[in-house]
Amino acid sequence: MSKRLDLYKCNICGNLVEVVLSGVGELVCCGEPMEYLDAKSNDSEYGEKHVPVFVDTDENGIEVRVGSTLHPMTEEHYIQFIETISEDKNKICRQYLSPQTSPIMVLKDKADIKNAREYCNLHGLWESVM
Ligand SMILES: [Fe+2]
Repeated sequence: MSKRLDLYKCNICGNLVEVVLSGVGELVCCGEPMEYLDAKSNDSEYGEKHVPVFVDTDENGIEVRVGSTLHPMTEEHYIQFIETISEDKNKICRQYLSPQTSPIMVLKDKADIKNAREYCNLHGLWESVM
């Protein structure tokens, strides 16, 4: 059974889906069950460039940066999105990213942020708690 905000990937076509409302059925794409994505955290290899970091800024509010050392943003290897989730999981904010941009999401207010996660096209899903 899927849970709200779970992410699943099709390993055949690359579809990536987020559960908006949960159900009991199995998620299937291209005729195969989709893979549940379990977010990695700081204790995993490559964590330094993938785990989201929260930075308070005077002018901008709060930045969610991907990596304590910023992740590369090349055509071949980049962060595809950053997402923040509130503690009650009722408020989600997602920033899509493109190569050659910065792997940083800027938010005015940190009140509705409990955790952040990001998706790297090569290294998958990562998360951290604020
Ligand atoms: Fe990566």
